[in-house]
Amino acid sequence: MYTLGIETSCDETSASIVRNGCQVVSLVTSSSLDLHKKYGGIIPEIAFRKQLETISLVSDYALRDAGIALKDIRLLGVTEGPGLLGSLLVGINFAKAVSFALKIPLVRVNHLYGHIYSAFLNKEAASFPCVALVVSGGHTSLFYLKDFDKIDSLGTTQDDACGEAFDKVAKILGLGYPGGPVIERLSRKGNPESIKFGCSQTKRPLDFSFSGIKTAVLYYYNKQLKGNRPSGNLRADICASFQKTVIDTLLEKALLACKTKRVRNIVIAGGVAANSALRDAFYQRMEKENGYKCFFPSKALSTDNAAMIGGLAYQLFKKGRLNA
Ligand code: KG4
Ligand code: ZN
Repeated sequence: MYTLGIETSCDETSASIVRNGCQVVSLVTSSSLDLHKKYGGIIPEIAFRKQLETISLVSDYALRDAGIALKDIRLLGVTEGPGLLGSLLVGINFAKAVSFALKIPLVRVNHLYGHIYSAFLNKEAASFPCVALVVSGGHTSLFYLKDFDKIDSLGTTQDDACGEAFDKVAKILGLGYPGGPVIERLSRKGNPESIKFGCSQTKRPLDFSFSGIKTAVLYYYNKQLKGNRPSGNLRADICASFQKTVIDTLLEKALLACKTKRVRNIVIAGGVAANSALRDAFYQRMEKENGYKCFFPSKALSTDNAAMIGGLAYQLFKKGRLNA
């Protein structure tokens, strides 16, 4: 059974054909990122205007790549939120129109749960119950999953999201947007032990706070510069030290969540989960040292994509979920 997934929650317009909920047959994603770069962040009006222009074309390409026609689709899945309102409306209205025209069901999917589901696509998957850590540009959350439709929140960020902290630190260092990939690259040349940064404590142990470390980077950088031009080494050391501190914090909370909920499996998903240093640290600390099993999506499916939405829509549909 083929599902057409649609995802338009931020700068991307994405469509995917997913077979039987777990096999990604095609995935086409168009991003308006280049148009936002000069502003240092996403401009919602630019994003949804571009999505209006591209959604039909992107869906056509996804069908063509899968070698099927629109009439072969049996189910639609679309992101209902959280995300940029105008952008979400483009995807939802497109999906509603296709659902009405083809007389096929439509399931609306939570974007964060979609991220979790990305680790269940195309590969060996975690078994329930499990813990999931979602680290994206807009969210940092821990969840406890008994099933795809039985998900409880364990903790969330009290201020900046994890990816947002990468983006803001990159902006402070003049490295452009988005910050995650460039910080990961520069970190390889830096010494992660050279600067002692720390993430702020939170009242509830499974919540997160990343705003303090961003400010600490800002003060440290300005103090070191004192009107001089930034050196490559300074920026690399800051990136490596910042990245290590963030990863250590994520690890500490993920371990605590697994211990508290007494589960052995953890899913780590969202844009920041594309980071290789984070993956290595989780495999080392959670798997090798503590005996937990880590499940990541493929790197391509870590950032926003429609396959995770189509796949989860299928699972929810099987459980009786349906939206008009
Ligand atoms: O999940 P995502 O594509 O969009 C949201 O739902 O927000 O995540 C985007 C975020 C951005 O903040 C970006 O800087 C971050 O993921 N990111 C990374 C890496 N690749 C993307 N952060 C760290 N390391 C990376 N390799
Ligand atoms: Zn996302």
